[in-house]
Amino acid sequence: MQSFELLSQKFALHFEKPHFPAEPASLYLPNEYFLKLGGKRVRPVLCLMGNELFDDIREDAWDVAAAVELFHNFTLIHDDIMDKAPLRRGMETVHTKYGENTALLAGDVMLVKAYDYINRIDGSYLHSILQLFNQTARQVCEGQQWDMDFEKREMVKLDEYLRMIELKTSVLLAASLKMGAILGGAGERNQNLLYEFGRKLGIAFQVQDDYLDAFGDPQKFGKQVGGDILANKKTFLLIHAMESASAHQQKELSNLLTGNEAGKIENVLKIFRDCKVDEWALQLKNKYLDEAFAHLEDIAVLSKRKQPLKELAQFLVQREY
Ligand code: IPE
Ligand code: IPE
Ligand code: MG
Ligand code: MG
Ligand code: MG
Repeated sequence: MQSFELLSQKFALHFEKPHFPAEPASLYLPNEYFLKLGGKRVRPVLCLMGNELFDDIREDAWDVAAAVELFHNFTLIHDDIMDKAPLRRGMETVHTKYGENTALLAGDVMLVKAYDYINRIDGSYLHSILQLFNQTARQVCEGQQWDMDFEKREMVKLDEYLRMIELKTSVLLAASLKMGAILGGAGERNQNLLYEFGRKLGIAFQVQDDYLDAFGDPQKFGKQVGGDILANKKTFLLIHAMESASAHQQKELSNLLTGNEAGKIENVLKIFRDCKVDEWALQLKNKYLDEAFAHLEDIAVLSKRKQPLKELAQFLVQREY
C-alpha cells in the first residue's frame, strides 16, 4: 500500500508530459501553463488508492487518474472566471494571464482531453466508468450554479450550503475513489462504501477550503485570501456568523455584504472571529470526518490496507493550502 507522497510522485511522472499539441499555441500554452502549476493532485491519488485498496494498481487506473485531474483543472479554469479570482497555486489565473475567452476555450479543450483518457480504458469497464464520470460532471455543474445563485441571495441555510458543496466538490472526490474501486474489481457494496467515505470526506475538504479562503496564510494558500468574502459567497463561516452574531453585528454583516467598501474583508473577518468560527469549523470537519471513517471501517478489506486513505483524509482537513 502506497502513501499519498509516493503515489502523487508516481502520478506526476505519468502526468508530466505535454497533453496538447503545439498549435495554436495561444490555446494550448495556457493549458500547459496551468497544468505545470501542479496542485495537490488529490483526485488522481484517490483514484489510485481506491484501486489499490482492492488489487495491484491497473494500467487503466493511471488513465482514469489523468482524466479526473484534467477534469478538475478544467473546472478550476472556469471557476476562476466565475469567481473573478486573480491567483491560483500562487500564480496568475488563466483568464487573468490570457483573457477570459481563451480561458473558456482552454477549459473546454481540457475537458475533451479528459474524455480521451477515459476512452483508453478496457472496454469491459468503459460503460460503468463513463456513466459515473458523466453523472459527476453534471453534478459539479449543478453545484457551481447553486454556488453562484447563493451569491445573490441574502441568506442560505446550512443544509443548502452542505448540498451545494457536496455537488461542486465532494462528488468528484467520491467518484475518483469509486472509479478506482471499480477498476480494482471491488464488489458493489465496497464500491458504495468507498463512495460514501469520499462524499463525507469531500464535505470536510470543502469546509477547510472555505476556512482557508478567509483565514489562510497568503504565503502558503496560493489563492487570494478573502476572495469568498468579496464575492459574497455563502460559506459556512457566513452562515454560522449570521446565526450566532449579536443583533448589532448581524446588521453590520448585512450592510457589509450589500456594499463593497474598502475594509470589507477585514470587517467581515472580525465578525467571523468574534463568532468563534474556527471552533465551528473544527466541529463541522470532525463530524464529517467521523462519518467518513465509519464508512471506511465497514469496507471489507484488511484494516492495514486502509491506512494511506486515513492519512490522506487527515491531511486534507488540516492542510494549509
Ligand atoms: C480546489 O481543489 C477546488 C476545490 C474543490 C476546493 P484543490 O484544493 O484540490 O486544488 P489543487 O488542485 O490542489 O490546486
Ligand atoms: C470550487 O470551489 C469547486 C470547483 C471548482 C468545482 P471554490 O471556488 O471554493 O474553489 P477555489 O477556492 O476557487 O479553489
Ligand atoms: Mg473559486
Ligand atoms: Mg467557486
Ligand atoms: Mg474556495
